[in-house]
Amino acid sequence: MIPDSLIQKAKGFALSQAEEYGAPSPDNFEYINTVGQQLASQMGATKDIVLLATSLSDCMLGPAFKTGNLSQHISMAVEKANELILDFPEISNDEKENIIHSLKEHHGTDKFYSLEAEICCNADCYRFASVDGVIGGIRYVREMPLDNLIDILSKKADEKWNALTLDICKNELEPQYKLIKQFLKQYQDTN
Ligand SMILES: [Fe+2]
Repeated sequence: MIPDSLIQKAKGFALSQAEEYGAPSPDNFEYINTVGQQLASQMGATKDIVLLATSLSDCMLGPAFKTGNLSQHISMAVEKANELILDFPEISNDEKENIIHSLKEHHGTDKFYSLEAEICCNADCYRFASVDGVIGGIRYVREMPLDNLIDILSKKADEKWNALTLDICKNELEPQYKLIKQFLKQYQDTN
């Protein structure tokens, strides 16, 4: 049983980090959580585990980015989750393992630890492979030179499209992914 106070604490921390650093986009915070919750409902996964995982998966992206260790954001998120869970001894070992694996596998893996982990990874893909995700993210990177931004968005769209494993998400995102790529290519071709 995941206490609501833990979920509120995790969400509060992650959103404050997103607002402080602008990474991940605060506009996408609830969006990715909502995608995760919808998938969890549709697939019969444990919604609280998914919500904790989608909330915390990128919660250390800002500090990791600032120190030039972007790839470290996953291990830093795991460390943060362990720290938050310490205050909640009622969390079972199984629940804790599921949360930690969901964070570790949120960019994909050969074999997911659980359905919750797979949902977290697929929900994360909506940040760059959906129109809402791209629009929600773009206004927080206005400082970046435009060519770099377009290049990064195009690569991230590919990376996230290739990380999708659930048919339900692939079917929903295929037209959006194609539109995003076409839109970015149009810009690249004429600039
Ligand atoms: Fe991430």
